Amino acid sequence: MPLQLHRLEALPQVDLDFFKEQLDLKNEAEVKAHIARIASKAYEIYSYRCIELFTFAQIKTGLYDRMGPSSAYQRALKLCSQRENALFLEFGTFFGTTLRKAVMDGVPVSRVIGSDLHSDFWELGHELFGTTPITFPAAFIAGDAFDSAFISARGPVTTNDADMQKVPDLQSLTSLIPLQGRISAIHASSVFHLFNEEKQVDLARAIASLLSSQSGSLIFGVQLGQEVAGVREFVRRPTDQTMRFIHSPESWKKLWDGNVFPAGSVQVEAKLVPINLKDTGVDGSILVWSCTVL
Ligand SMILES: C[S@@+](CC[C@H](N)C(=O)[O-])C[C@H]1O[C@@H](n2cnc3c(N)ncnc32)[C@H](O)[C@@H]1O
Repeated sequence: MPLQLHRLEALPQVDLDFFKEQLDLKNEAEVKAHIARIASKAYEIYSYRCIELFTFAQIKTGLYDRMGPSSAYQRALKLCSQRENALFLEFGTFFGTTLRKAVMDGVPVSRVIGSDLHSDFWELGHELFGTTPITFPAAFIAGDAFDSAFISARGPVTTNDADMQKVPDLQSLTSLIPLQGRISAIHASSVFHLFNEEKQVDLARAIASLLSSQSGSLIFGVQLGQEVAGVREFVRRPTDQTMRFIHSPESWKKLWDGNVFPAGSVQVEAKLVPINLKDTGVDGSILVWSCTVL
């Protein structure tokens, strides 16, 4: 399926403004042409639906802010400004968009980390935002979340207080293992719904192992959701239809509170926000969620 350029034309003004500011460009047509050029390069690496539909260009933090002033994103920002040496990880970071927004919103670039299976997406992110590893020196660590040589633990890891006193040399890391129990805020958007039910649990446990066990640490994200959890058809393109397990707010809460983390040790919020992409074969709702250590 070709890129749905009409979706780029309909990109919300708030997102367009973010790109204009990042790129220091005023001409909106020029900004859109630039986004389309990078999207077609990214589509060659892997033909994700979010590239076809340009949903990757929608800044997810707006969705969290719809949850109110103490939204997960705002809490993550506060934690990173108040907790000494707090680290912010974006898992499945793609172009690193949310990290760039977090840095724009005050998180020190020396304390943000992007991680993804494909380093090519991260490199394209520099092209998308007109930066270099020198002008945007966030750490990037490539790897597969399901590979135990990349994340070895499954489930919560108790934070070592001595480790929290210092920021590790993030640029030298080749796996996330040294960061187990060390990250204060973890963001994962449009990642979980890529996998079947079992793998989603495994992924949740792997990501949970990276989280600091200090109170207030949080994992948050968005993905496709529905009222009743279950397998449903997920149309990627006419020739490639797959079945996906899509969570409901209830099933998602149960997964984190009592399965990934011991029951009662975390507070999980999960809410459905309707989306309208009916002309594209994806319709339904987005699950906006957070899991916070009590
Ligand atoms: C659909 S994209 C979403 C990107 C971005 N977070 C967003 O919201 O626009 C999914 C991302 O997860 C990454 N990913 C997929 N499988 C992964 C794995 N096993 N380990 C790490 N990252 C993975 C992909 O490379 C891709 O960047």
